[in-house]
Amino acid sequence: MLNEIRVGLLGLGTIGTGVARILIEQQELMRRRLGKTVRLVAAADRDLDRDRGLDFSGVRLSDDAKDILTADDVDLVVELIGGYEPARSFVVTALEHGKHAVTANKALIAKHGEELFPLAAKNGVAIGFEAAVGGGIPCLKALREGCAANAVLSVYGILNGTCNFILTKMENEGADYADVLKEAQELGYAEADPTFDVEGIDTAHKLSILAAMAFGSKIKFDEVFTEGISKITASDIESAAELGYRIKLLGIAKPHGVDGEVEQVEMRVHPTLVPVDSQIAQVSDSYNAVMVSGDFVEHTMYFGRGAGERPTASAVVADIMDIARVCSGDAPDGVDKLAPPMAFCENERRELPTLPMADVQCEYYLRLMVKDEPGVIASVTSILADHRISLEAVLQKERSAAQHVPVIMLTHETSEGNLQAAISRITQLSSVDPDVLILRKESFGA
Ligand code: HSE
Repeated sequence: MLNEIRVGLLGLGTIGTGVARILIEQQELMRRRLGKTVRLVAAADRDLDRDRGLDFSGVRLSDDAKDILTADDVDLVVELIGGYEPARSFVVTALEHGKHAVTANKALIAKHGEELFPLAAKNGVAIGFEAAVGGGIPCLKALREGCAANAVLSVYGILNGTCNFILTKMENEGADYADVLKEAQELGYAEADPTFDVEGIDTAHKLSILAAMAFGSKIKFDEVFTEGISKITASDIESAAELGYRIKLLGIAKPHGVDGEVEQVEMRVHPTLVPVDSQIAQVSDSYNAVMVSGDFVEHTMYFGRGAGERPTASAVVADIMDIARVCSGDAPDGVDKLAPPMAFCENERRELPTLPMADVQCEYYLRLMVKDEPGVIASVTSILADHRISLEAVLQKERSAAQHVPVIMLTHETSEGNLQAAISRITQLSSVDPDVLILRKESFGA
């Protein structure tokens, strides 16, 4: 077994099948790149009857994950089951049995990464999770290694293909959210239960990992401010376009502190107005993009497929190859030669507080439903003036038979706390419907 690493695969679903395909079909290319062999020795899945169009001869197939997690002939376990449990228990077992672990599971890393990283280090094994953020885009490697010389100034991106597909389609076709979501489900983009995607949770998982890696902090998924896209209407997209903006679901993270010392981390996921000619606005359909700005490198952008069998499997196998390069049968102890999983030495990662949302500074898009009668706009703008919130634009839609008509306002920068205080006063006006849509606007200087 010299010069070889033996892989056991948990999950032969879409991505697992892609990983098996690469390990079987690209073995010679990988050997030429690595100077050693990566061999798929075992795979487990509850459904072994389905034809995956692959020749599994020489691969031990099982319907029980335990046959892989504790097997003597497996050096590296790939977890592609997804979700929090049993994925967490499986990865813990693999690490405790001295096996390297590679996963595409963003939920697992966002929620349990802080348990898994020290466990891997204690057992002298590696943990890889490139595919957890941006699918096939090698953005974590770029952030961890390519940008290692930089203090990161911001990281943001479109991290969920389902939401980007829905928003793009709503914009291009003037279609309603519910209709496009249904189509996305029929096309297999969105899950039957689309909550994690459309409510921003999947993006928050990924952003919490990016932020911690960028700023040397601990992963704090539970503290990410998270709003999804389900309240956006075709009319909001049209109004944003009239004002020169496109609406994208973004994950945004920025460091706060003095003299380059990070003291707080800003993390938020929400539908965001971005200038129609900005780079991020050009990322359409189900594509993802991650933007990293560093103090030396300046602005960088990583673009590609954030999901799907082949792109995601590509990132999983890149992790396997990184580990294989330094830790195969004839060199089992090479973990220290890898960059630390979260880009900073484990003992240098800090417990940094999250910036309270009330302190976040933003520009805003407000959609108010108001009674079409004299003095309404004046009452609203007078409250905004009380809160020192200045307006960039106001758009009033034409009269309709409806009791309320939409009025769109774009504000200049203010704090979220101040904006929310103004909105709670505005919604007490009898001529304003209490259901106000608040979207945030970013220009990122690009
Ligand atoms: N469901 C995700 C998306 C892919 O739509 O981008 C996996 O995180």
